Amino acid sequence: MKLSTIALLISSVAASANAADTKVWKITDLGSGERANLCDRQIQTCQNNCGGPKEALMAFCNTTTMAWGCGCRTKTPDFETWNWPVPAADCRGSNQVCQENCNSQSGDRSACFENCAATHKCNTEDAPVSYTTSADVQTPPQYIGPAVSYKGKELGDLNDGNDRDNLESSSDVPDSSESSDTDSKSTTSSASTLFQSAGFLVVAMISTTMAF
Ligand SMILES: *[C@@H]1O[C@H](CO)[C@@H](O)[C@H](O)[C@H]1NC(C)=O
Repeated sequence: MKLSTIALLISSVAASANAADTKVWKITDLGSGERANLCDRQIQTCQNNCGGPKEALMAFCNTTTMAWGCGCRTKTPDFETWNWPVPAADCRGSNQVCQENCNSQSGDRSACFENCAATHKCNTEDAPVSYTTSADVQTPPQYIGPAVSYKGKELGDLNDGNDRDNLESSSDVPDSSESSDTDSKSTTSSASTLFQSAGFLVVAMISTTMAF
């Protein structure tokens, strides 16, 4: 009797450990001091990459939402995005939560840790894309997007509590079964859309000029 009670106790403890909440990573969970520090460094990185503060026409980082953007006057920022302070911190945080989630899981933890390492090659082009960029300082970033690396490889489950399954079925997400051919086509089609709108703008400007 006593033994079975103990066994029951052990199994209920194990069950509650299994049921432990999966932690969910979001970069805004960082403390305000760390967010401010990251944002300072993010803006500095942008300015340095552009060739000075005056060259950085767009350099923002919102310390509340962590939305950031960088645009130079004469060039496209070319410092590897995965090394920028905010995206790098996003990867580190996701990796940490991935490991914590492994600890709260039952089963083969070493395989789980290996998966965290494989999907979080932070500060490399194999790091998961950080969806922290935004159009302007007021617009919050997406935060969550398909688990793909900067190189464009699908990474699978990042185990950071964010469900990306719903994103994978959406149409604007790259599908693993699609060839790079399809990808270049969609790039072309968005470029031609841009062209069309630019053409429309020119036409609109000409007609405005003619009207006056
Ligand atoms: C940061 O983003 C929030 C939410 O979009 C916005 O309310 C706030 O004004 C932004 N901060 C700055 C400094 O623009």
